[in-house]
Amino acid sequence: MRILLTGTSGQLGRSLAKALQDLGEVLTPQRAELDLSDVDSIAHYVQLCKPDLIINPAAYTAVDLAEKESELAFLVNAEAPTILAQEAKKLGIGLIHFSTDYVFDGSKSDANGERVAYTEEDACAPLNVYGASKLAGEQAIVNSGCAHLIFRTSWVYSDFGKNFLLTILRLAKEKTELNIVNDQWGTPSSTLFLSDAVKQVVLQLQSTEAHAVAKETWWQQHQGIYHLTPTGTTNWCEFSQRIVEHAEQLDLLSAPLPKIQGIPSSAYPTPAQRPKNSCLDKSKFNQKFGIQLPSWGQVLLSCLQGMASVKLQDPAN
Ligand SMILES: NC(=O)c1ccc[n+]([C@@H]2O[C@H](COP(=O)([O-])OP(=O)(O)OC[C@H]3O[C@@H](n4cnc5c(N)ncnc54)[C@H](OP(=O)(O)O)[C@@H]3O)[C@@H](O)[C@H]2O)c1
Repeated sequence: MRILLTGTSGQLGRSLAKALQDLGEVLTPQRAELDLSDVDSIAHYVQLCKPDLIINPAAYTAVDLAEKESELAFLVNAEAPTILAQEAKKLGIGLIHFSTDYVFDGSKSDANGERVAYTEEDACAPLNVYGASKLAGEQAIVNSGCAHLIFRTSWVYSDFGKNFLLTILRLAKEKTELNIVNDQWGTPSSTLFLSDAVKQVVLQLQSTEAHAVAKETWWQQHQGIYHLTPTGTTNWCEFSQRIVEHAEQLDLLSAPLPKIQGIPSSAYPTPAQRPKNSCLDKSKFNQKFGIQLPSWGQVLLSCLQGMASVKLQDPAN
């Protein structure tokens, strides 16, 4: 299987490249070869590659800057996926794409005002430009009629790149006190967790060949939008407390540790508004693919254990 994988200089793309390397030939163009903001060049590039599957974790992910750079955000997050989907349709291949909890406005609650997790059927109403651009990308893929899987995930982190986990580990060494938002709820997702789940899905797709099930049938049975994060929910403040706690146990941080205090979002204004409730219901993914999801706490611990073992081998890290 020839897989065209975008965005491999990013957090998720990098993990996917590692996870999928044994499943076939993985083509990993860098931005110089495939610039997704140069939409006229995308179709030509895909036709040259002749992939059997396209996986698109690349995205414009600067949520606050997107408020000012909406044209670029829409080019990369909506126009580029539109063309990838059209090309997938022409080639008769599938497209795996990633989207976000930010397609929702975070207001979903029950009659008692308790947070309720969003299902794939809930109405989208993004609060910011980034969310709107990602939603437009999703809609274009669905409308293109290509075989597709769209995984909406949230709060992505890894041992690499720009993310909340690495920011907290750095700040914990620099500061004695951290004030972290505690009224936005969701589920942190490591790229290791996400790429492992995607690998299992691609393996299921590949096994259709062994069982003589037509790939088209598999896509017809599985295509759609799925919520994909670990289980459980937390808020940014609790997430940072857990990061610091585990990091100390694993010798990634040493005492004195900073005091971590919760603050409301209103005390930490940002250019882009964020949803208060980012909790996603994952039962559709679980039922359709039969894959059990670990808790966000287990996933965090595995990520930090991986970082600790790298540090043990090379203390300069
Ligand atoms: N990060 C989160 O918290 C989060 C939450 C929910 C959903 N998601 C979604 O998950 C996916 C992966 O996110 P991530 O955190 O791994 O993103 P990331 O680390 O910011 O990586 C983004 C990737 O996209 C590439 N890219 C951006 N603009 C490009 C362009 N014009 N042409 C070619 N490549 C371009 C980047 O390349 P360069 O290195 O060249 O810039 C980079 O490789 C995205 O679809 C994102 O929307 C992320």
